[in-house]
Amino acid sequence: MAEKPPRPIFVCQSCGYRAPKWLGKCPDCGAWNSLVEELVVPMASGNREIPPAGPESSPVPLVSLTARAEDRLSCGLSEFDRTLGGGVVPGSVILLGGDPGIGKSTLMLQVLDRLCGKERRGLYVSGEESSAQLKLRADRLGISAPELLVATETCLENIIKMVGTVGPDYLVLDSIQTLYTATLPAAPGSISQVRETAFRLVQLAKRRGHPIFLIGHVTKEGAIAGPKLLEHMVDTVLYFEGERGHAFRILRTVKNRFGATHELGVFEMSEAGLREVTNPSELFLSERSLESPGSVVVPCVEGSRPILVEVQALVTPSSLALPRRQAMGVDPGRVSLLVAVLEKRVGLAFGSQDLFVNAAGGVRLTEPAVDLGIIAALASSFLDRPVPPDTLVFGEVGLTGEVRGVGQAEMRLKEGHKLGFRRALLSRGHQVRLPTFPGLELQEVADVAAALRTLFPPFKS
Ligand code: TYD
Ligand code: MG
Repeated sequence: MAEKPPRPIFVCQSCGYRAPKWLGKCPDCGAWNSLVEELVVPMASGNREIPPAGPESSPVPLVSLTARAEDRLSCGLSEFDRTLGGGVVPGSVILLGGDPGIGKSTLMLQVLDRLCGKERRGLYVSGEESSAQLKLRADRLGISAPELLVATETCLENIIKMVGTVGPDYLVLDSIQTLYTATLPAAPGSISQVRETAFRLVQLAKRRGHPIFLIGHVTKEGAIAGPKLLEHMVDTVLYFEGERGHAFRILRTVKNRFGATHELGVFEMSEAGLREVTNPSELFLSERSLESPGSVVVPCVEGSRPILVEVQALVTPSSLALPRRQAMGVDPGRVSLLVAVLEKRVGLAFGSQDLFVNAAGGVRLTEPAVDLGIIAALASSFLDRPVPPDTLVFGEVGLTGEVRGVGQAEMRLKEGHKLGFRRALLSRGHQVRLPTFPGLELQEVADVAAALRTLFPPFKS
């Protein structure tokens, strides 16, 4: 029987939805103008005729398996190792996403150099830069691993062949969007290509038992270009973030099958590549102006580590009919909610005020423990009275204005104590008895009104 010619199909580049004709809006994920014509051909991920790539597996009792923490491979950059949950797990696939120019290639080259050391072999495949460009960067970074090999290649089949001959312990692919498999006619970077190449690479990693790092581009909306399903396929997703004009870079775990998410690693971009910042609290507080209203220090726990972050608020009378509400580094919805709590529970009228909230240093704070910090910063700016600079503030705030306890209070207090803070405003009634830290006074409050009375005496709601 003659083979059927490939038939065009329209595939949503955001979610992978397939339609026989072009549509302006994806019926599945609702994205606009995201359908692109691709040709349908059999894929390894969906075709039964392709034989399995590895030996057949047979079930074994779970209790008989051994897995040790020492099996993790550490690169010696503690900020990187910790974000992965203590090192790289053999056979895992790690996706590193980030804006162009943020330093993904730099980070991967430095990490690969350290992972390889003297004995191990690493292969860095770039589809973005020439060997000469890679060499220029390597010279700046002082790359010294003798077995760190580089190649410029974008065809997946050639890369797999190369891996077979070279046998690297570590493989870096820069980037997943430049790769293509010759079995699909779609363009590199299209959803079909990304899905198929990622699928084959995951298989490769599991079969060989060696880790693979994939670099991915981020779209304007801030997600890794290509489908969300790329994130589902890999074991670990890291985002490399930072603000333009700032040297600080934050490595954030978004997903990790082998460790905690929300883990943070902090780096600084220098003339000779990325440098670790092992004490980020000092860094984030270094530019704080001590006596100005609207500034509050919150001890956050991102992943497994406490970090002190300055939360700033600015409240000014608005000349607009619809006052501005802006939040950076904290959830804008959360800020609206806390403003409503302040209005209703303590009678601060924000109605005709422009309102800005910012987490300094370019961090993004996701835990509810910052609630009380945001409340304190807003009230401080509104009342034009500074929060005492040696005071830490943390706690979750509920809709009735009550202040609730948050986890890891001890860890937060300890970090604050280490950096010389003398007072901590927190919720009442912690389940576990908090230890005392010499010179650090705990001020426990039940609700927002009590918190403001403590911070700004003789405040009355
Ligand atoms: P790069 O790793 O190429 O970013 P990405 O792969 O995410 O696109 O980093 C590019 C930026 O980093 C570039 O603006 C120059 C800067 N940089 C330094 O400041 N110092 C260095 O040692 C290196 C290698 C790059
Ligand atoms: Mg790059």
